[in-house]
Amino acid sequence: MAKTREESKNKTKKEKNNERKTFYITTPIYYTNASPHLGGAYTTVAADVLARWNKLLGKEVFFLTGTDEHGQKIAEAAEQNKMTPQEFVDKISAEYKELFRLLNISNDNFIRTTDPFHEKEVKELLNTLYNKKLIYKGFYESYYCVGCEQYLTASDLVDGKCPLHNREPELKKEEAYLFKLSSFQDKLYKLIKSGEYCILPEIRRKEVLKFIKSGLQDVSISRLKEKISWGIELPFDKKHTVWVWPDAFWNYVSGLRQKGKDVFEKFFPPDVQLMAKDILRVHATIWPALLLGAGYKLPKVLFIHGYFTINGKKMSKSLGNVIDPFYLVKKYGTDSVRYYLMRNLPFGSDGDVSEKTLIDRHNNELADKLGNLVSRVSALAEKYGIEECDNSLITKLKLETIEKNMKNYELDKALNEIFAFIDICNEYVQSKKPWETHDKKVLFELVDSIKIISMLLWPFIPETSGKIAKHFGFVFDYREIKKPYKLQKIRKAEPLFKKIEEIKETKISEKENKENKEIEGVKNMGTIKYDEFAKLELKVGTIKKVEDIEGADKLLKLSVDLGNEKRTIIAGIKPYYTKDELKEKQIVVVANLEPRKMKGVTSEGMLLAAVSEDKSKVVLLSPEKKIEAGAKVE
Ligand code: MSP
Repeated sequence: MAKTREESKNKTKKEKNNERKTFYITTPIYYTNASPHLGGAYTTVAADVLARWNKLLGKEVFFLTGTDEHGQKIAEAAEQNKMTPQEFVDKISAEYKELFRLLNISNDNFIRTTDPFHEKEVKELLNTLYNKKLIYKGFYESYYCVGCEQYLTASDLVDGKCPLHNREPELKKEEAYLFKLSSFQDKLYKLIKSGEYCILPEIRRKEVLKFIKSGLQDVSISRLKEKISWGIELPFDKKHTVWVWPDAFWNYVSGLRQKGKDVFEKFFPPDVQLMAKDILRVHATIWPALLLGAGYKLPKVLFIHGYFTINGKKMSKSLGNVIDPFYLVKKYGTDSVRYYLMRNLPFGSDGDVSEKTLIDRHNNELADKLGNLVSRVSALAEKYGIEECDNSLITKLKLETIEKNMKNYELDKALNEIFAFIDICNEYVQSKKPWETHDKKVLFELVDSIKIISMLLWPFIPETSGKIAKHFGFVFDYREIKKPYKLQKIRKAEPLFKKIEEIKETKISEKENKENKEIEGVKNMGTIKYDEFAKLELKVGTIKKVEDIEGADKLLKLSVDLGNEKRTIIAGIKPYYTKDELKEKQIVVVANLEPRKMKGVTSEGMLLAAVSEDKSKVVLLSPEKKIEAGAKVE
């Protein structure tokens, strides 16, 4: 018999209720122009925490991350490393994969923009937009920063330079295909203002609204292939390649569709997309405009987290002050690094990171608080046994606050609450003295609380939580979080965390430290006493050639013309200057130093530079006007 309309409506509703809710989360895809640094690890760990949390709540989760592999910046990096772009991106992408494996990241796909499936998807997108006349041929003229791989407006520049990369942008005017971004201005403004396209935190939403109000211009989405060949060919004009951003954005579509049409339909659009503010503008304008133009739904939330800083400076590959995440994970272990990243700064605000604070948190929080609770309680439970009763400690657990924190992306606050409960449990052990009373009920309450704690900590420190669950014999099921622990024999647990010896100073990474020492070497080569000052021979040199040194991130090999002779000088200035900025630059050279061998190359002098106190800025000393090479500095 045919169903009445009402019946089918009810059925659909019922079916809907039975369906598991889905959760689709993404990270930015990371540039493969250099080895991974801790910044990318931060976003990916945060996404993993949210993915696991939603899994714990019973949702069906899809978690996407990956690498962004086309464009000028990457082609340049490959050339400097004497590799083809494909060889180079294969290498760096594999490093990201390995890092995410070490960090215990539970991603469901790892998308690479050089994957043929992705390239095909991008071409389809471009064809769709071209056929809808949202892409047209024209010219584009603007400042372009290769470091950002983004166009900048005049107001973005500081002293004519990109403030982030300290390099002069190129002024570009060339034949290009443009995307009609301007036609989406009003729509985007409304969607963001109403919260339908939700940008969090609020301060970021306001920034974006202000930016959109100031006017959106059509944006060039292609580059001449003769100039940039490392990119996807435009399907309707083979003379052009696609600009990296539309290519990169489409990973959020192709990375899902790669797993099947049904997977795409089930999960799209993203529930949340994590990133830092450096890429918010483009994600708040070009990305949703591409989706609207091609007829897709918009993501629900963009959450913009803070930057890691080192002594207050943004950590970035271009500035050369990056922390090596491999070093941290290998030295301190996956869970300690994950925990530190999530606990140390409010998610959404900037904050300093250092090895010293990592060690402090590892020792004081993971080892002393969590580790001690588990080992003391398990040892006492082994000795005296446990007896089921109502767990009075649960009333002190702020579960609703923790759930609210997680929902609001306040990951650090959720950890604070969980650790406040761990403190309560430790105090309970102290005050109830079960080693004297042998009170089996108190021990049951503590074991039951450990079960809850490890479940709540699972998204953050999955390996440790898994160990606790295995040891005490329970499974993770959030619906059972408040159901009593099922009685069984408990044995004393092995220590979860070993204490780490305190260090006095922050070390950036072994590799960097080694290089820093070598740079110090360059700077110290000519240390002379005051009475020897007169012997110092300072000359003006003109830099003729700039080359990389294999295996050195900071050093450059310079061929310097000193008038009557050429010298090779090794200098630790790679993070501060581009090769183009150095070529033909006049500098001041200490010309009478003993030669020194570094990284297999002999340095025949030293150049002079001004260095800011925190070493974030290094500026070469240069004569104010041009003068012949070899001129004496007196
Ligand atoms: N490839 C583009 C993104 C394309 S997404 C369609 C890109 N890549 S990136 O490698 O530069 O990564 C930028 C992202 O890495 C930031 O938005 C942020 O998520 C993360 N971080 C990079 N440096 C960081 C810090 N110092 N601190 C926190 N996060 C950092 O932009």
